[in-house]
Amino acid sequence: MRVAIIGQGYVGLTIAVGAAGAGHSVVGFDINDGLVTALNAGTSHIEGISDSVLASLISSGAYKATTNASVIDGCDVIVIAVPTPLDEARNPDLSFVHAAADLIANNVKSPALVINESTSYPGTLLTEIASRITGVAHLYVSSPERIDPGNTQWGTKNTPRLIGGLTSQAVAKAKEFYATFCDTIIEVSSPEVAEAAKIFENTFRQVNIALVNEFAQIADALGISGREVLDAAATKPYGFMEFNPGPGVGGHCIPVDPTYLAYVANEVGVPATFIKRANEVNLAMPAYVVKRVIAGAGGSVKSKSVVVVGISYKANVADTRETPAASIIDLLREAGATVTWHDPLVGSWRGESSAELGECDVAVVVTKHDVVSVADVKKSSYVFDCTGSIPGADGI
Ligand SMILES: NC(=O)c1ccc[n+]([C@@H]2O[C@H](COP(=O)([O-])OP(=O)(O)OC[C@H]3O[C@@H](n4cnc5c(N)ncnc54)[C@H](O)[C@@H]3O)[C@@H](O)[C@H]2O)c1
Repeated sequence: MRVAIIGQGYVGLTIAVGAAGAGHSVVGFDINDGLVTALNAGTSHIEGISDSVLASLISSGAYKATTNASVIDGCDVIVIAVPTPLDEARNPDLSFVHAAADLIANNVKSPALVINESTSYPGTLLTEIASRITGVAHLYVSSPERIDPGNTQWGTKNTPRLIGGLTSQAVAKAKEFYATFCDTIIEVSSPEVAEAAKIFENTFRQVNIALVNEFAQIADALGISGREVLDAAATKPYGFMEFNPGPGVGGHCIPVDPTYLAYVANEVGVPATFIKRANEVNLAMPAYVVKRVIAGAGGSVKSKSVVVVGISYKANVADTRETPAASIIDLLREAGATVTWHDPLVGSWRGESSAELGECDVAVVVTKHDVVSVADVKKSSYVFDCTGSIPGADGI
């Protein structure tokens, strides 16, 4: 099939490579010129896709990136994989989805299968995409992406894929497409069910992470190890699932998607109380971390050298979106500390560069990448670990 993927970020590039590797002819459309140039030069910007895989798909002609929207016309399949962030009022920002739909409306004259993989609330495919594209009889499917960047066990191929279409013909065509590079396809009765399943999955994580974050604080106040308690509870073979406490949540999904569910819940008059409370707990974690760091460092960090280790939101990825490291660094600076940060995966961020790991008064481990040496972290006099990966360190 001829396939166009709108958006070449974490999701779009991953699907592009999956589809190209399965023998489809794939064009990756993105509005970011620099990204398109880098991709066509065989340089991948995401962890799960190597430059060599990308380069071989380019040289075989299976994949190319473009900023030229006209090449989307004539494709059999068009996948939308654009950002769905929150706006300044922390409400859903569907402007990127609307732009993608308008791009299809303005450029695609021959009928295609239009798939939305971007995460959004139930009703998005119908009301925010299909209804904006008139005049051409496209088929429409929602197939929310479940990719977990950096996860080496579960990827596009072996993670079951949900499909909900506006018509049975659309579902049949989507099954034919995804069956070429996904092992398991699960059809649900409507796009709204697929869309809701995706945001409920991430809400489940958000709420459970908040629960363990709150529990970690209770355990510390009780003078017991929260992590040991959680490990002990996890020995129960049924009815319990282990989540780990941390400095807060980051990335494009957990801090954002549940708010999409809360938004539609509010529209239909049902209060999403768990989501609201979980957001409060998770957003308060950086302040809790800094309070504990100050206490552990002898009651003050004023004029002390503090290195924050790992500023991306999770291990072994360079993604800094919504990272709790930002608040932790800001709060430490407000408390008078001289703060540097070390993250070899990120390199530069907010106009600052990654510092070498040396002998500081305090090290705060927010994210522990495999490439960061525990011995280097321990060069600091006091280590506060938010990850449970530095033996002997204080932390959560
Ligand atoms: N990152 C994840 O782990 C993940 C996992 C599952 C689902 N999702 C969802 O997938 C969607 C995409 O997320 P992502 O992480 O890939 O985002 P991203 O920011 O990594 O990539 C999005 C890309 O879309 C491009 N873009 C923006 N507007 C465009 C337009 N009008 N036309 C073409 N390209 C455009 C951007 O330049 C960018 O390269 C979101 O809805 C997200 O919630 C993300």
